[in-house]
Amino acid sequence: MGNWHNADGTLDPVKVRAEYPIFKTQPGGRPLHYLDSAATGQRPQRVVDALSKYLFTANANPHRGAYTLAQMATDGYEAARARIAAYVNVPASELVMLGSATEALNLVARSWGKANLRRGDVVLVTEAEHHANLIPWQQITREMDADLEFIPVDDVTGEILWDRLDSLMKLKPKMIALGHVSNVLGSIAPLAQIAEAAHAVGALLCVDGCQAVANMPVSIPATGADFYAFSAHKMGGLFAGGGLWARADLLAEMAPIETGGDMIHSVRLRDADFTTGTQRFEAGTPDASGAVALAAACDLLDEFGRDKIHAHEALMIERVIRELPEALPDARILGPRDASQRAGLVAFSSDLIHAHDLAEILDRRGVAIRAGFHCAQPLHEQLELSSSARVSVAPYTTHEDLDALFVGLREARKVFEG
Ligand SMILES: Cc1ncc(COP(=O)(O)O)c(C=O)c1O
Repeated sequence: MGNWHNADGTLDPVKVRAEYPIFKTQPGGRPLHYLDSAATGQRPQRVVDALSKYLFTANANPHRGAYTLAQMATDGYEAARARIAAYVNVPASELVMLGSATEALNLVARSWGKANLRRGDVVLVTEAEHHANLIPWQQITREMDADLEFIPVDDVTGEILWDRLDSLMKLKPKMIALGHVSNVLGSIAPLAQIAEAAHAVGALLCVDGCQAVANMPVSIPATGADFYAFSAHKMGGLFAGGGLWARADLLAEMAPIETGGDMIHSVRLRDADFTTGTQRFEAGTPDASGAVALAAACDLLDEFGRDKIHAHEALMIERVIRELPEALPDARILGPRDASQRAGLVAFSSDLIHAHDLAEILDRRGVAIRAGFHCAQPLHEQLELSSSARVSVAPYTTHEDLDALFVGLREARKVFEG
């Protein structure tokens, strides 16, 4: 257990930073001001320690061997699953460990969608979805001759127009799929309300939790979701990792998409029976060490306290929203102005400075922000933008990081104002 907090109980990002070796490096010879944690989080020392401990002391193929080391490998993997499941408050028996959130969302669309969608059925998503929660639904609705409909965004602010939900429910969707926190707008979806509306018309709710699980307390049962996907690398885990929670009855009915070793009950030359439970969706050797690493990341995030992470990040976001108009007067902030309706990030555009130019100028000061359409191209088209700049924060984000951001922004403005 580290000491991560100030005397008043708030998170101290300077203490937190000590756990992340990347901040001891100076990429390009400059101190790092990493404001791109929504793309991927930095890795804590203890995550890599847990990874190497598992690989150096318990390495064998899980679920296969009868010898002691193989049992240790299996136990380590399953203990990690249980820890990750506890982090989002679900039973381990309902948490499928996969290679990414993208894989998780594809699994829902392809498996549940193939079995349940029929001609003319409606799947509802928002216009703000990350491509990972849009394209799988495009594909499956096309394949099943079903319809894809959209909860619109405000063309100016980008805010998702939740008040349209009531009228959209008249379409009697079978599935509503949306992000818990938008990776461009930063807005937190009112999931309990959406789940109630969905269930009232017999629809299921599939939630992309990638931008929520590392940034705020998330108890999946409280969201009302029927499926909930998340990504390891946004939480301090390894790159190739993700989780899919599915309601037990849905999981039991779902057919696997990938087949092969480790997911079978018995195999004959011409057919096979599959095992039950989460293992049915984890064909091949699982990334057990990645799960162990993610479990260590969960421990750390819980030591920080997710309510404290959320409060710290809200403070950082509030400052960005407050100071941005002064540093860059033509900045158009996408999503809600109220930091309390957000988690973790702010995206904005400027007619004066293209987002890519801005990112390049900021990089000269060691400030790393994301420029582009952040895997949400339709949203940017809706807002008539070719790109935006995105600042995202984490438990290790300090006021010094934001100072450097604003110095860089003013510098960029000077260059472009001429
Ligand atoms: C909202 C959202 N959904 C899905 C993804 C994809 O996650 P993964 O990288 O685990 O496939 C991301 C990551 O960029 C994301 O931000």
